[in-house]
Amino acid sequence: MATAVGSVGADAGDSVGGGAGSSTEYERAFDAVVAADERIEPRDWMPDAYRATLVRQIAQHAHSEIIGMQPEANWITRAPSLRRKAILMAKVQDEAGHGLYLYSAAETLGTGRDELLDKLHSGRQKYSSIFNYPTLTWADVGAIGWLVDGAAITNQVPLCRCSYGPYARAMVRICKEESFHQRQGYELLLALSRGTPEQHAMAQDAVDRWWWPSLMMFGPPDGESQHSAQSMAWKIKRHSNDELRRRFVDICVPQAESLGLTLPDPDLRWNEEQGHHDFGPIDWTEFRDVLKGNGPCNEERLTRRRHAHEEGAWVRESAAAYAAKHTTGETGAIRP
Ligand SMILES: [Fe+2]
Ligand SMILES: [Fe+2]
Repeated sequence: MATAVGSVGADAGDSVGGGAGSSTEYERAFDAVVAADERIEPRDWMPDAYRATLVRQIAQHAHSEIIGMQPEANWITRAPSLRRKAILMAKVQDEAGHGLYLYSAAETLGTGRDELLDKLHSGRQKYSSIFNYPTLTWADVGAIGWLVDGAAITNQVPLCRCSYGPYARAMVRICKEESFHQRQGYELLLALSRGTPEQHAMAQDAVDRWWWPSLMMFGPPDGESQHSAQSMAWKIKRHSNDELRRRFVDICVPQAESLGLTLPDPDLRWNEEQGHHDFGPIDWTEFRDVLKGNGPCNEERLTRRRHAHEEGAWVRESAAAYAAKHTTGETGAIRP
């Protein structure tokens, strides 16, 4: 919500240079907006650390969307039917769109897209480690939709109520599209699961490989999560990593059953007392290793991204030249 902070900001702005008192007034206004569950908007005052946290999170999210196009795009030319190909192309395009909404949201915080892409390409900013795993069979497209997009939704639905307005609004649209992605993955796996024994085995194998990395998508356990407490205090984040992970497991168990597939965890069972499923230990060594850059596809994903960026330079230049010409034309300075 712009008004509260904006108006106090203007008053406080009159006394800029007046010492610590004015910044306290800004802070109080910011805290009040967050406490009232209203939205902080781009021109409102915000603490530097809040801005930096948002840029880091939104950038990482945007990078994940565009890097995430690669593992599935790998199967577009080999989709088993025209219908499947059209669906997959639409999905991969959606992910590009998500990247664009999110880079735009980051730009409202004063960080340009060029800078963020440069940080991605030079390895100074991360993307979700899940995309460093390979897509070995067609069933992986289904497992990604069902599990990876499913985990993304579980993570992102609460972000629709994030305290930063542009991020929250981008998430509303993204979540609607993610829900289509999740359903297409489920439907694809269901077709395979009900198909020939070979197709069923292919679906099961994909789920076996994607299940644990999907649980890792929620980030480290609460005790080790560096930024969680502050992000929750700022209402950027609404639930802890472990809470969201458990919610995701609870959602997946009955869905796996109706798919006729098994989740690869012998410790998975309903805990009557807690009203949730218990699940086995996650291999955090693998998580940290992939994060460090040693996953099966880290190098391949980044190299391909850098290459695509260089290849696309002429498109960016042409678009910028066209926009500049168009703007000048409108002022009447240049006659056609
Ligand atoms: Fe997405
Ligand atoms: Fe998606």
